[in-house]
Amino acid sequence: MGVVRHNSNGRLEYRLQGAHCEIIDIHVESVERRKYIGRKMVTDMLAELPAGTRFVYAVTRESNRIAQQFYVGVGFRVVGVLSRFYQTEDGVMYGMDVAREQSV
Ligand SMILES: CC(C)(COP(=O)(O)OP(=O)(O)OC[C@H]1O[C@@H](n2cnc3c(N)ncnc32)[C@H](O)[C@@H]1OP(=O)(O)O)[C@@H](O)C(=O)NCCC(=O)NCCS
Repeated sequence: MGVVRHNSNGRLEYRLQGAHCEIIDIHVESVERRKYIGRKMVTDMLAELPAGTRFVYAVTRESNRIAQQFYVGVGFRVVGVLSRFYQTEDGVMYGMDVAREQSV
């Protein structure tokens, strides 16, 4: 489990599993949004991923349009729809290939 923070205004939580990294949660204080804090936290997370990480993904609620625009805005693409991932709605999975070279 890893955490990236931006002062007290932003927090990103991720989990590593082999070559995969899942963004479990990302949150920016509402008055601080649209100031590229979210983007910076993703960039900081990417920079600290271990060698061998190949793919980063996140699942959002189908209704969370802002999160979806955010993921696209920072370079993710839709990789799938998870039917009824949440109790009453679908989840949309966003993914990004990363090419952290293996250390030798
Ligand atoms: C999603 C969230 C983390 C984005 O953080 P942020 O710091 O406001 O995002 P950024 O300023 O880094 O935005 C980067 C890009 O994402 C997109 N984006 C972000 N917010 C957007 C919005 N409200 N509308 C449209 N596009 C948006 C844009 O492409 C933006 O680049 P641009 O401003 O040059 O157009 C923030 O809105 C949030 O905390 N939301 C509530 C929690 C949540 O839903 N988390 C995700 C599910 S776990």
